[in-house]
Amino acid sequence: MNIAIVGTGYVGLVSGTCFAELGNTVICVDNNAKKIEDLNKGIIPIYEPGLEELVAKNRKEKRLFFTNDMKTAVEKSKVIFIAVGTPPKLDGDADLKYIEQVSRDVARYMNNYKVVVEKSTVPVQTNKWVKYIMRLNNHKVDFDVASNPEFLKEGSAIEDFMHPDRVVLGVESEKARKLLVKLYEPLKAPIVVTNIQSAEIIKHASNSFLATKISFINAVANVCEQVGADIEKVAEGMGLDKRIGSSFLKAGIGYGGSCFPKDVQAFIRIAQSLGCNFDILKEVEKVNENQRKLVFKKIEQALWILNDKKIGVLGIAFKPNTDDLRSAPAIDIINMLEAEGAHVKAFDPKAMAHAKELLPNVDFCKNAYEAIKGCDALVLITEWPEFKKLSLTKIKKLLKHPIVIDARNMFDPAKMRKLGFKYFDIGRPKA
Ligand code: UDX
Ligand code: UDX
Repeated sequence: MNIAIVGTGYVGLVSGTCFAELGNTVICVDNNAKKIEDLNKGIIPIYEPGLEELVAKNRKEKRLFFTNDMKTAVEKSKVIFIAVGTPPKLDGDADLKYIEQVSRDVARYMNNYKVVVEKSTVPVQTNKWVKYIMRLNNHKVDFDVASNPEFLKEGSAIEDFMHPDRVVLGVESEKARKLLVKLYEPLKAPIVVTNIQSAEIIKHASNSFLATKISFINAVANVCEQVGADIEKVAEGMGLDKRIGSSFLKAGIGYGGSCFPKDVQAFIRIAQSLGCNFDILKEVEKVNENQRKLVFKKIEQALWILNDKKIGVLGIAFKPNTDDLRSAPAIDIINMLEAEGAHVKAFDPKAMAHAKELLPNVDFCKNAYEAIKGCDALVLITEWPEFKKLSLTKIKKLLKHPIVIDARNMFDPAKMRKLGFKYFDIGRPKA
């Protein structure tokens, strides 16, 4: 099938590449000229495991193309996905200006029947507006709108696309349903076909529910810490109950990233605007904000005065296997440390280029050991698997004081204490 994807960010680029891998001819469109120029040279703007190879393969096999030329992309395609960003506005609402802009452009260039599919996370009822704007800008050509939310975790986005738990299709015509089911059939995943409003809500509800799970376990972790219980064991014991499930029960510094913070906030706003009470999500946000403060307090607890202290931070990306810094807890922690007069040395395997722009006063180091050397304490914020392989005895030698604040419970507390570290973690017994 000939398809176009508008917006080659994390979602658009991964989706477009995977659709090409499934045998479709895909044109990816973006209004960022430099991005398209780079992609046409094989330079990938983001780090996502496996993506570079898959883009190269599908370009070579002439199934994947990158362009700024929206007109040709629309004319040549039967299905057009919208995957531009929907960042939060100051009041928490999702900013839909890019969606509106793209809807207008797509409408203007439609030469025959198309299905226009919203993939970005949008508030319920956005598709109604997309349809309205498209009709306003093109009275002649028949088209359908649809909603197909993405559930791609950064760091495992290709795997998530190719082996999804489910595909959700919000449609309002049989013609659109048939086309989209055909596109997704090769994945052999359960397909939930519903109306457009339900599909839009499935996305917000899923992300808000997962965020709730994380805040719930973090709140439990804080109780554990007061009574000598172990959150890892508590989560294991809870998670083995199939009704609860073990994923997204990892206590730590709380959620970040491009989706959970924004989607929880947007869902609260939508519910409010519809006159529905959804205060449970306000608590989810509160717990998440507190969790960052809690980690900061642990640093203070370990060092007392932070002024002039040297702190080594490991991990800046909001999670491992990505270079994404959107709502990354490390940014907040580093800002808090610097506000107290501390000097931060840091290392992240993939996120440093971008981090340098956001954190101009941080001393970025070429590896983890360099970042730790001579520091008063080490703070681990992102659980990159390679950090687990670091030599603890070497870390101890390099630090000025053997203090480790582990915001992801990455290390074994008994081992850390045996080695003589003052070790601070989340929700585990002190000894
Ligand atoms: C996506 C979704 O769109 C967002 O709603 C979801 O919640 C998270 O994932 P993401 O792919 O991460 O966003 O966004 P980003 O990496 O910012 O990429 C958006 C792309 O769209 C950029 O390359 C940008 O240049 C492009 N764009 C933006 C356009 O091509 N046209 C526009 O008008 C605006
Ligand atoms: C999320 C959704 O999971 C995905 O379906 C899609 O909608 C995009 O948004 P992403 O933000 O890429 O994916 O990563 P995810 O693995 O969901 O992690 C989000 C945040 O939660 C990270 O900061 C992570 O560190 C944190 N997290 C996750 C926890 O703190 N504990 C957990 O148990 C799981």
